[in-house]
Amino acid sequence: MCGIIGYTGGRPAATLLIDGLKRLEYRGYDSSGIAVLDGEKLTTVKTVGKIAELDKKANGGKDVIGTVGIGHTRWATHGVPSDINSHPHVSANGRFAVVHNGIIENYAELKSELIAKGIPFASDTDSEVIAQLVQYLYDGDMLTTLREVCARLVGSYAVGLISTDDCGTLYATRKDNPLVVGLGRNENFIASDFAAALEHTHDFVQLGDGEIARLTPSSVTFYSSNGVRIEKTPFRVDWDISQAEKGGYPHFMLKEIYEQPKALTDTVRPRVKGSSIVLDKIALDTRNANLIEKIDIIGCGSAYHAGIVGKYFIEKNCRIRVNCELASEYIYSNPITDSRTLTIIISQSGETADTLAALRLAKKLGSHTIAIVNVVESAIAREADDVLYTHAGPEIAVATTKGYTTQVAALYLVGLKIAKLKHTLSDARYAELLDGILALPQQVRAQLDDVAGIKKYAKRFAQHKCVFFIGRGTDYAASLEGALKLKEISYIHAEAYAAGELKHGTISLIEEGTVTLALATQRALFYKMLSNIKAVQSRKGTVLAVASAANSEVSEFTDGMLVIPDCDDDLSPVLSAVVLQLFAYYVAAERGCDIDKPRNLAKSVTVE
Ligand code: G6P
Repeated sequence: MCGIIGYTGGRPAATLLIDGLKRLEYRGYDSSGIAVLDGEKLTTVKTVGKIAELDKKANGGKDVIGTVGIGHTRWATHGVPSDINSHPHVSANGRFAVVHNGIIENYAELKSELIAKGIPFASDTDSEVIAQLVQYLYDGDMLTTLREVCARLVGSYAVGLISTDDCGTLYATRKDNPLVVGLGRNENFIASDFAAALEHTHDFVQLGDGEIARLTPSSVTFYSSNGVRIEKTPFRVDWDISQAEKGGYPHFMLKEIYEQPKALTDTVRPRVKGSSIVLDKIALDTRNANLIEKIDIIGCGSAYHAGIVGKYFIEKNCRIRVNCELASEYIYSNPITDSRTLTIIISQSGETADTLAALRLAKKLGSHTIAIVNVVESAIAREADDVLYTHAGPEIAVATTKGYTTQVAALYLVGLKIAKLKHTLSDARYAELLDGILALPQQVRAQLDDVAGIKKYAKRFAQHKCVFFIGRGTDYAASLEGALKLKEISYIHAEAYAAGELKHGTISLIEEGTVTLALATQRALFYKMLSNIKAVQSRKGTVLAVASAANSEVSEFTDGMLVIPDCDDDLSPVLSAVVLQLFAYYVAAERGCDIDKPRNLAKSVTVE
């Protein structure tokens, strides 16, 4: 998705903006640009393609003089990727430059109105309408102008703006799209994501919906949507910039896979005190737990898959009905929810538009909401009734790895806590599961020490066109994420099926050479799974098993096997995920794919 960086201070802005944009590359983009003010001189450099092209065009920033500016990475929604459609967009009179994330839904209507007033447009984008509207409504006071502009916009936006009338000043506003203000010494920043400014500051302020920020090198002032000056409390982001760098790994994805033992430890360990699970300030006590009649878990992409693992775990151990819903479906489904439903919202970024909309709807309908989120102070974290942070650290690769496994671990903690409060597990079983969760980081570390087998099979299957993933129970949940990982980064068509469902349709697609990854980690379902594997083999399909050491007899019936450490049946999805992430990674590497930035995908999808 699009990224924004803005700067005002004493240093050359262009170089700093281009560096900031490089930190945002991971979000996914197709073009980029910067606009810099030197006194009243506004210089804009924009280009389609990689930031390296922009860097070249701006001669590393050296050809663009000035100490205040805005930069943008664009992920095309309205208008093809092109130099002209790239941001910043400059008003027809050349006085205002704007960067925008989000979608202006009424842009066509505004555009016609402005064209009728004689304002020409240069691009096909919805975003340009903001720059032209600023020009049209400008009354000499940018604060009132911005308020009027916002009042005319329908849709979602994070906006950065500079004006030749106001040389050292940078303005920002937002609605339903993330934007933070970074506080430096004699310099200040705006960014759609901490990563863009983390090299320069760890102190941030989250801009609220409808609020406006006015930044100069020495001050930042905030205004509410009705123009009243407001005070905002900064927060500190203790992520280290080195966490947002590759640190010797060829790709962020591989680095993040290898960070999982630490991420899982940080998510789980501080919340286990003796035999108790202490979930931050989450309102879960015996009374609340006994009032829960149903749980809705909501997310998109991998977060949804983590939710499905959570569904299996919670239903089995807490005896509560759990619905796992795709956020984009939930919001238009007239959901059945009320105060007796607990809604768990899952999002790595905390900014996914569909998920945020689902959270708002669940709250509006009276459900208590708990968000499982990685990015501190993100919209979902702020708006949910309770938040449980996964401490995964910054995740840069578009395909999530440590984000997903820490979400699963957080769901285990929530589930086990509810089970304890509702007395649905014996003390012995509770202790067994808690020990199992605490052992996961060490088991993942052991897996990461030996990846030779995964590499071998990844090489062998890298040129296949279609791969099926099958599993039963929680293995089915894990296979959904395995298939998504493979298709996201290698572009191989991959589909996950409940193994028992194969015979009801998919089996017609199995023929000689079709590859099936069969997850067989569940002791209780092992023999059922063997039957499904044999059915694939009988059709001359190739089967690669993912199984725990205890189930290694599966290898007698398959063409290969990837072993995960022995663990509780309920907890295997974390360990299977690591194998499947590595499998997808090495397949994609073998195929020469752009692993960290797969085509057409964005890390954080802030539009519906
Ligand atoms: C995008 C990403 C996925 C991610 C999903 C949800 O589609 O490409 O990898 O799982 O968004 O993201 P979230 O930040 O809400 O977990």
